[in-house]
Amino acid sequence: MTSGAAVRVEPAGSPAYEVRIGPGIAAAFADEIAGLPGIQQGRLFAVIDTGIPPAWVDTVLDACAAEGFDVTRFTIDPSEKNKSIETFRAVLCAMADAGIERREPVLALGGGIVGDIAGFAAASYRRGVPVIQCPTTLLAAVDASVGGKTGVNLSLPDGSLLKNMAGAFHQPAAVLADVSALVSLDERTFRAGLAECVKHGMIAADWSDAGLLEWTRESMDRILARQPGVLVDLIARNVAVKARVVAADEREQSDTGGRALLNLGHTYAHAIETIDGLAPDGGPLLHGEAVALGLVAAAECSRSMGRLGASDVLVVRGVVEQCGLPSKISGLPDDATLLDRMMHDKKTSGGRLRLTLLRGLGRAELVSDPPAEAIAAGWSAIRA
Ligand SMILES: NC(=O)c1ccc[n+]([C@@H]2O[C@H](COP(=O)([O-])OP(=O)(O)OC[C@H]3O[C@@H](n4cnc5c(N)ncnc54)[C@H](O)[C@@H]3O)[C@@H](O)[C@H]2O)c1
Repeated sequence: MTSGAAVRVEPAGSPAYEVRIGPGIAAAFADEIAGLPGIQQGRLFAVIDTGIPPAWVDTVLDACAAEGFDVTRFTIDPSEKNKSIETFRAVLCAMADAGIERREPVLALGGGIVGDIAGFAAASYRRGVPVIQCPTTLLAAVDASVGGKTGVNLSLPDGSLLKNMAGAFHQPAAVLADVSALVSLDERTFRAGLAECVKHGMIAADWSDAGLLEWTRESMDRILARQPGVLVDLIARNVAVKARVVAADEREQSDTGGRALLNLGHTYAHAIETIDGLAPDGGPLLHGEAVALGLVAAAECSRSMGRLGASDVLVVRGVVEQCGLPSKISGLPDDATLLDRMMHDKKTSGGRLRLTLLRGLGRAELVSDPPAEAIAAGWSAIRA
């Protein structure tokens, strides 16, 4: 029997909470929900990702009902288009219809999209009710469910979609990362989640886990086989890194890095992730696939500024490829177009580009206005 793990998150401005990780943890935790600070027994509002096998959802929600919760279910078909104000509004209306009160929790069962919408609804409804995050994708387990960022996309009248443009910081009361839920993920979605693990490994030396990237490389066969024990360790170590970053800079206000360091590779990724036709199926890349390419590009950009060794770039490219993620891609627009797209990313400040780059493998920092040639070197490194 695989044992579980727990990681404590201690944001400076919000109550501390635990991330519990293990097989079957979401159902097993049902008897502890009513004991969480700020939660009372009564109604429970479950927001459910349509992609999760119904049997797993039933096991979790039946366990909640057996503990005396009156459970209301609301399902969401997750897509970036549905991560919208309209869906947010529908969740709020259903919560009101169910008569949810201040101390009655939202349970978010799903990937990052469902977690972000449910978390934002919990942050807003009656000015805030508790949310418990139950991430069911690897990306949500190692990243999105922890740290309290919630929100939806804004779709403008001109047709453009602004990612995560409306939202709130709302830390969960608990996170339940049930590794049994990851079994049913399709291979592409599972591997996409590994990109955030590589990212954490690339910054972890500054956050008390210098061996994370190496351990991830050595454990890759067991990770890809989704062995429950190694998944528990993978999630626990990644969450611990994210928890330390969040504790240092809960609301991303640090000028020297803090939470912005978690954007390593993301400014490159955001410039390409909405482009249709880059993925082999003719659609856009998954977020994690774009991040994987962005990590290689950020490493090469760092190298070209003399901040990282060439052999370290090869290590990054190697681990990305080990994950089965793309490290090169054909069909990218020209450099000028890509630079323009990077400048429109919301990580620019006052028209200046601030890029998270490496200063050695395992250590990241924010760099303002990196030279255009260095940015272009990053793009060249990922052109097939
Ligand atoms: N809040 C944060 O800090 C944060 C951090 C990173 C990413 N995000 C957000 O997370 C979102 C991406 O999350 P994601 O990668 O989890 O994608 P996702 O939520 O779109 O889920 C991916 C797919 O997996 C399916 N799925 C979910 N659980 C499943 C299961 N157990 N078995 C089978 N299929 C399952 C979903 O139905 C969906 O089709 C983005 O919107 C991103 O902005 C938020």
